[in-house]
Amino acid sequence: MNTHFTVFERSLHLERYPAKYQHISLQAWDAADEYIIEHVENCSLFCEPDKIDTPIIILNDDFGALSAWFNDKKPILVSDSWIAHKSVMTNLMINGFDTDNVNFCDALTDLTEIIDKPAKIVLIKIPRSLALLEHQLISLQKVLDEKTTIIAAGKVKVVQNSVLKLFEKYIGATTTSLAKKKSRLIFSKYAGIKTEQSPFPTVVADPLIPFTLSNHANVFCREHLDIGARILLKNLPNALGKSVIDLGCGNGVIGVSILDQNKDAHVTFVDESFMAVESARQNVINHIGSEDRATFIVSNCLEEILKTNSSNYDIVLCNPPFHQQNTITDHVAYQMFTDAKKALKTGGELRIVGNRHLDYPIKLKKLFGGYEVIESNKKFSILSTYKAR
Ligand SMILES: C[S@@+](CC[C@H](N)C(=O)[O-])C[C@H]1O[C@@H](n2cnc3c(N)ncnc32)[C@H](O)[C@@H]1O
Repeated sequence: MNTHFTVFERSLHLERYPAKYQHISLQAWDAADEYIIEHVENCSLFCEPDKIDTPIIILNDDFGALSAWFNDKKPILVSDSWIAHKSVMTNLMINGFDTDNVNFCDALTDLTEIIDKPAKIVLIKIPRSLALLEHQLISLQKVLDEKTTIIAAGKVKVVQNSVLKLFEKYIGATTTSLAKKKSRLIFSKYAGIKTEQSPFPTVVADPLIPFTLSNHANVFCREHLDIGARILLKNLPNALGKSVIDLGCGNGVIGVSILDQNKDAHVTFVDESFMAVESARQNVINHIGSEDRATFIVSNCLEEILKTNSSNYDIVLCNPPFHQQNTITDHVAYQMFTDAKKALKTGGELRIVGNRHLDYPIKLKKLFGGYEVIESNKKFSILSTYKAR
């Protein structure tokens, strides 16, 4: 993995978290990070008299390039991703920066509780989800004034009309830079817009489930039930009295169904998205009535569970993700299966749903020694495997 991030002859060592599972071709920054840093440094933005006294807010820093670079400006980092938080923390430490320089916030944090005056500079990496961007622009309105410098960056293919329209709608007049290394900057001027009613969370109903699902902006399949989740819902194991993990829980549809169908089951909901785990919590409260039979953990795969409480679970259910930030990858699924094996009791079951073209069967065979196909159609399979020892 290339870890030397260099702009204007200043270098940082940057890694993607978790380094040991990453493909060698991946790096912890992209051209949009370089572009935004070059622009801020070229304009000597932090030297302008009214910008010396921060606050500066950084949104959606993927793996810490922006937070590490500007760490001495004491930025507030806003990200929905636990992995992004962990990457920033790791990269601050690797480079010998004080981790207290960065104020870590999830994307549901009310920024008025963090700063009591308008932000001077806001730097935004355009997220994969337009809904998350919309939520973030609405949340930002409370901490902007007409003097705030707002600069966003993303790959050219991401900086589309739909993105610019959101800036125009929620911030104000918006322009873009020339493209450089297939990336573009967005400049937006706050026009004092106040949005009274956020469209989030949204609610989804589906005949397959006897409850509605509340979804914060960045939740996977926020507007409908995922096809993989549908097949898994039709093939849930008997979990009476069992201790179950819903791994990569999203809005919690799988785990809430387990709680609904198995009165004595306990479900631990795990996701790396703060918004997902918060949505799952809300859906448990809404449908089950209390959190007594549920635990909620924000974590990369099962890392946070395995720190304290390994080999205690009867069943792990998983509809694995294909992405880490903007990159398509299968390393997350692989870590999920590896962690699941560690978290299961001897005799415990991992049950997954997967697209048939993926090599999940090979991975399960390698890790568990075998697997059973519970159900299969043209696109998806439900695979089950047990921990022998
Ligand atoms: C395919 S979705 C499944 C969501 C839900 N369980 C369902 O079936 O609709 C995968 C989920 O894994 C989460 N995820 C992605 N990477 C993760 C990681 N490294 N650790 C934990 N969860 C992760 C995503 O945020 C997403 O909610």
